[in-house]
Amino acid sequence: MAQKKGKSPRKEPSISKLLAYPAKLRCTIAGKAGGKGSRVQFVTQEEVKNMQELPPFFTGEAGETATLQTGFVVGLGELGKLDAETFADTVAAALVKAAQKLEEYQIIIDRTVYDKVGFRTALRLLVVAQSNAEYPSDFLKGDKGRKKIAVRKTEIVVPQSFAQVAEEILDSALVEARHINAMRQTQALPGNYLTPQTMDERAAAIAKQYRLTHKSFGRAELVRMGAGGILAVSAGSEREPRLVVLEYRHPQARKTLGLVGKGVTFDTGGISLKPGADMHEMKYDMSGSAMALHALAAIAEQKIPVNVVCALAMVENMPSGKAFKPGDVYTALNGKTVEVQNTDAEGRLILADALTYVQQNYKADLLIDMATLTGACVVALGDFYAGLFSNNATARAIVEKAAAESREPVWALPIGPRYRELLKSDIADINNIGGRYGGACTAAEFLHAFIDDGQMWVHLDIAGVGMIKKPFSVYTASGSGYGVRLLAEVARQMVGGA
Ligand code: BES
Ligand code: MN
Ligand code: ZN
Repeated sequence: MAQKKGKSPRKEPSISKLLAYPAKLRCTIAGKAGGKGSRVQFVTQEEVKNMQELPPFFTGEAGETATLQTGFVVGLGELGKLDAETFADTVAAALVKAAQKLEEYQIIIDRTVYDKVGFRTALRLLVVAQSNAEYPSDFLKGDKGRKKIAVRKTEIVVPQSFAQVAEEILDSALVEARHINAMRQTQALPGNYLTPQTMDERAAAIAKQYRLTHKSFGRAELVRMGAGGILAVSAGSEREPRLVVLEYRHPQARKTLGLVGKGVTFDTGGISLKPGADMHEMKYDMSGSAMALHALAAIAEQKIPVNVVCALAMVENMPSGKAFKPGDVYTALNGKTVEVQNTDAEGRLILADALTYVQQNYKADLLIDMATLTGACVVALGDFYAGLFSNNATARAIVEKAAAESREPVWALPIGPRYRELLKSDIADINNIGGRYGGACTAAEFLHAFIDDGQMWVHLDIAGVGMIKKPFSVYTASGSGYGVRLLAEVARQMVGGA
């Protein structure tokens, strides 16, 4: 029988291809403007007054763009009012356009701008903005539907006075930018691709690349270990959970940083099922684990002289006949009994076990966990800050300083005995929910209950800033890539004696 000629059906993309590590940005430093490519020039309103070649309507307001034969001119607003935030917003938006229109371009910025924003800050923001722009996370679309990226390489023209430091800053920024894209890649992959297993494979690949130790515990080992929280949350899923543990060691290290990430590859809420609207967004519920893993990669590639232990608690939270139920009581890895009044408050349960594991097996000078933990944190802070909780003023100060330096926003919120009170259970050592109010604080206080006395600890709730509705600063919509720079900066602070 004659067969109709047609296109062969599209094959399902393989996960190994989808997880192929993003390439490094092709961007170099140039001493002066010129050459055959285009230009993207960022100008303040003060500069506009002295420029003749601009169209008459162009005033140089922040974000205002004029297309010239040579490329784009983009306003930065008044120099006096310019700060790193406006700089980041403006540069990120403009470089998205440039990435799609120009094949080769130079970025030109006046020394007065670098002086005002800070050269290191500005150069790092430029690199991340450009790198994000050249890596749209639309890789599940067919070739026709994908954003076309025209650009092949770029140069950043650096004033003479900064030439000495520029290369070093660029190298570091390029490394971090690449791992940010890798984080965004894992965030963008939906729950049928990114599972506890595939995230473990990603971790193994990173471990191999940077010669890290990689251990991974499946259901049987977690049962032997007694990780009741991870087991309870994953009970309803056909996919096995994983506790993935990576170690990076530096021979000159004097301090150890512990990183713990929430990796719920999909959060249905479990038997306490979430409403249907927007449930798909819960594919981003693994963002904490992606942040921890890719920050570790960024630290390892830069050979920052600290030791890092990283634990990723990977599960899928599903309802089923085998699922854990509201009212169930389980025993956590540290021996505490937990009453589960809501199966949708699952992140804290898996984090508690991962935090216990790290405390029982390592001596971390600073332990940081990160998680898309509560909707309440989004209500409190919107998309614009990670909620920061800590049991120690020094620990809080280290992370706040790193946040200021990296321009990754954090905002401190309280924990303490008032919130612990709300977590009392009639039948177990602790309840997993604390009532209607102060939800981000009760969630953080729940984790606090699993922190040993004397352990310096910070919890970052990235439910808002980890997955954003609309781009801001250098963050991309949906999976934002938040936190890689922050944690790399924390590692650097720890080398500096902190
Ligand atoms: N993953 C969610 C938190 C979340 C909500 C992240 C919205 C990003 C956007 C978490 O597991 C959750 O469901 N938390 C509950 C806790 C509640 C049941 C105490 C919440 O925030 O509603
Ligand atoms: Mn949940
Ligand atoms: Zn969750």
